[in-house]
Amino acid sequence: MSRHLRRHLELERLSGVDFLPLSKAALRKAPAPRPPAAPAIRTGPVAPVDPCFAGYPPEFLEFRKPVLECTRCGLSSTRTQVVFGVGPLGAPLMFVGEAPGGDEDLLGEPFVGRAGQLLTKTLKKIGVERGRVYIANILKCRPPGNRTPQPDEMAACMPWLLKQIQFVKPKILCGLGNIAVQTLLSSKTGITKLRGKYAEAHGVRFLPTFHPAYILRNMGELPLFEADLGTACRDAGLI
Ligand code: URA
Repeated sequence: MSRHLRRHLELERLSGVDFLPLSKAALRKAPAPRPPAAPAIRTGPVAPVDPCFAGYPPEFLEFRKPVLECTRCGLSSTRTQVVFGVGPLGAPLMFVGEAPGGDEDLLGEPFVGRAGQLLTKTLKKIGVERGRVYIANILKCRPPGNRTPQPDEMAACMPWLLKQIQFVKPKILCGLGNIAVQTLLSSKTGITKLRGKYAEAHGVRFLPTFHPAYILRNMGELPLFEADLGTACRDAGLI
């Protein structure tokens, strides 16, 4: 814009002119008003998709819906939310812990508290980002005060986990701690005896190891925990 024109416009503005008419040529070029958008075709109520789960196949999202509303046991009345599980379908390695704790109950994701951070850190040390594995628990709801899961709660929740394993199709399942290992193996043998030795659980190669919360209380066992996770990651083809 030339200096003269700018000055002229400034004088116009100072004398109270706050618009300028468009030339006829400009009016001819102005875009036609847009037609109103066609109404969207709805075939039924549309459930909002959690952005974290966008990209998962519809069959999996359908499976997930009733799990999030589950009332199969008494924990549904004390939980903040269902902690469904996290990770990609097709992850070659799937971890199964015991049950959500307080942090998991609040955040809706398994293994995000202190024990979970140790799991994440150990995986990272081995060279595996947490997002490459699937993580779930025997129970999807927190037992009040983090008490031990009751047999009826585990029996009610196991079908969800078994279906989830079918969707993930991991090459290796890794059980974390006594509860997960004994439940998945239907065994009463203790974790100290079972850890580090492959077994089979529900048709999947299964490696038992310690629970990371146990490692936090017994740091002397950390090298064994790291070795087990290394074995699982290697055999799953992650490293
Ligand atoms: N302990 C578990 O067994 N699972 C969690 O998700 C957190 C702590």
